[in-house]
Amino acid sequence: MTAAQRRTVAIVGAGPAGLMLSHLLWRRGIDSIVVEERSRHEIETANRAGILEAGAVSMLVDEGVSDRVLRDGHEHDGIELRFRGRGHRIDFRDLVDAAVWLYPQQDVFADLADARARDGGDVRFEVSEVAVVDHLTAPVLSFTDSEGERQEVRADIVVGADGSRSYCRGLVPASERREYFTTYPYAWLGILADAPPSAPELIYAHSDRGFALISQRTPTVQRMYLQVSPDEDIAQWPDDRIWEELVARTAGDGFELRTGTITEKSVLPFRSYVDETMRHGRLLLVGDAAHTVPPTGAKGLNLALTDVAVLADVIPRALATGDTDALDEYAERALDRIWKAESFSYWMTQMLHLSPDGDAFDARRQIGELRRIVSSDRGSAYLAEAYTGWPR
Ligand code: DHB
Repeated sequence: MTAAQRRTVAIVGAGPAGLMLSHLLWRRGIDSIVVEERSRHEIETANRAGILEAGAVSMLVDEGVSDRVLRDGHEHDGIELRFRGRGHRIDFRDLVDAAVWLYPQQDVFADLADARARDGGDVRFEVSEVAVVDHLTAPVLSFTDSEGERQEVRADIVVGADGSRSYCRGLVPASERREYFTTYPYAWLGILADAPPSAPELIYAHSDRGFALISQRTPTVQRMYLQVSPDEDIAQWPDDRIWEELVARTAGDGFELRTGTITEKSVLPFRSYVDETMRHGRLLLVGDAAHTVPPTGAKGLNLALTDVAVLADVIPRALATGDTDALDEYAERALDRIWKAESFSYWMTQMLHLSPDGDAFDARRQIGELRRIVSSDRGSAYLAEAYTGWPR
């Protein structure tokens, strides 16, 4: 064991939330350490969602992380909702004068990891046996580093940015957690394919065979998703069946899905979860450690980044006054947006997915809902505002 070190803030988890927080704190003159069990390579090569709200893009650029998103990302001014074989464009620019950017989460991660390395940040990948003690009074983070050396760090504040299976969340006694969740009878089968894009923008398709989402990555690589059941056996989905289903679910109106070679497939679970106890003593939870959304609408990463923006505002003030109760402002401010995003993701999910029991009322209700959205600007404006991200 080496002698205990000191950092103002100890962050568990070097995903986008943990790294962005470390970067923002550094910009505000506060030092931190970030520990992560996975390797940088492992995080960088995992396929994750691809949509950034305009506010997330400004955060990357204005806070000096990187402007690569402006060069390699693609600005999208709308999406298409498809149902009953017809496409209907929702024009974000027209409706709310905003846009989103197609820029995958693993690229956001790479930009942040590069920025932290560039600015001399202390980020330790491939650590093991992470433990936090005394988070109510005088937190100590310990871990075994990639060289096998046990390390100990004393900190004023510990932040759990360690994802939906958070170790840090477990430090809050179950009796003190305020947890809310719901489950869905759906999952997505996600694929990456070597193929040209089928459309200039994303397509969210409702069909009587279930939901499909046509997204993109590059001019030669596409990302697509299909509604499947939560206990789906991926072995039952050979490539031909995937294409057949994607083509059938998006058919009509002369639309032609461009197919190709599938290079990756995986099943994504659906769950909505919020733990409103985002602060416990000197421990704070951010991103997926505190809440998850189903993937429809791509809010997960965006929400993690807005959590962190609030925290980077609250932590310096709490440290300056020495009053840890000031940290309560974090949950108070962050939960407003979290519940808006929970509500939006739930709504998009329920509007677009086929109920597994084939409920005829529900299918007609969904068409009524979709008509309500596409047939008037007032109907579309909520979708446009929520999708591009509420003003902060
Ligand atoms: C993507 C994922 C989403 O969940 C979504 O709503 C839109 C796009 C994507 O990975 O490209």
